[in-house]
Amino acid sequence: MSEAVLEVQGLSARYGNVCALHPVDLTLGRGELVAVLGPNGAGKSTLLRAIMGLTAGSGRVLFEGAPLARNDARAVTQQGVILVPEGRGVFGPMTVRENLDLGAYLLGNRAGEIAARLERVFALFPRLKDRQTQLAGSLSGGEQQMLAIGRAMMAGPRLLLLDEPSLGLAPRLAAEILETLGDLNRGGLPILLVEQRAPLALKLAKRAYLLSVGRVVAEVTPDQIASPHDLARYYFAAA
Ligand SMILES: Nc1ncnc2c1ncn2[C@@H]1O[C@H](COP(=O)(O)OP(=O)(O)OP(=O)(O)O)[C@@H](O)[C@H]1O
Ligand SMILES: [Mg+2]
Repeated sequence: MSEAVLEVQGLSARYGNVCALHPVDLTLGRGELVAVLGPNGAGKSTLLRAIMGLTAGSGRVLFEGAPLARNDARAVTQQGVILVPEGRGVFGPMTVRENLDLGAYLLGNRAGEIAARLERVFALFPRLKDRQTQLAGSLSGGEQQMLAIGRAMMAGPRLLLLDEPSLGLAPRLAAEILETLGDLNRGGLPILLVEQRAPLALKLAKRAYLLSVGRVVAEVTPDQIASPHDLARYYFAAA
């Protein structure tokens, strides 16, 4: 049996006539946290959305050795592949608690399991516990990101994909959130982390794919990226 949790083979995506993602290959091993780095417009979100089947793409995506059911969002969730989208995607007019409960919708009325997951989320993000009845739209940006990750955890992920969780956050809060992702990963959860803030991501990831103009232009280890110039060299070489 393959050791890979996620295998992406020749995955490409287009918007109309524009090719936003040229065939991409990537793998994520058991318990790994791998980063995808790239400048604005590189195709990072498109890659995650194509993996999930939210953007039409051609190519193969295997999860734990079997094809991911990309034509069926519920089935993807059922398989345990959960995306925390760019911009967080929390439901503003609903409370924190209602947002969290939505994450566990596949559990139906299994109250005991829902309560256990809630406790785990509150242990990760105690601030959410204090704000259960607050409307999600009135949370700070950092709290909304915590809620988005918390909601994903309510789904019982076996693989977590995150699209720029540090976007728009002050450096200290961004670091705090990424540290929490590091804790989740050390607990055994495989994570594919899209980030523009390379230094933050490279603190956690042991490997990173560099995306530029819709292509993977390099696969690097953190020691190969000593300064932003090293990244720019890869990006511009491909542009
Ligand atoms: N729905 C869409 N229709 C047409 N073009 C799109 C659509 N979504 C994205 N694109 C284009 O595809 C390319 C890749 O976009 P994508 O959002 O994947 O980049 P990104 O790396 O996530 O950028 P950012 O860091 O700004 O989030 C861009 O040129 C973008 O304009
Ligand atoms: Mg994006």
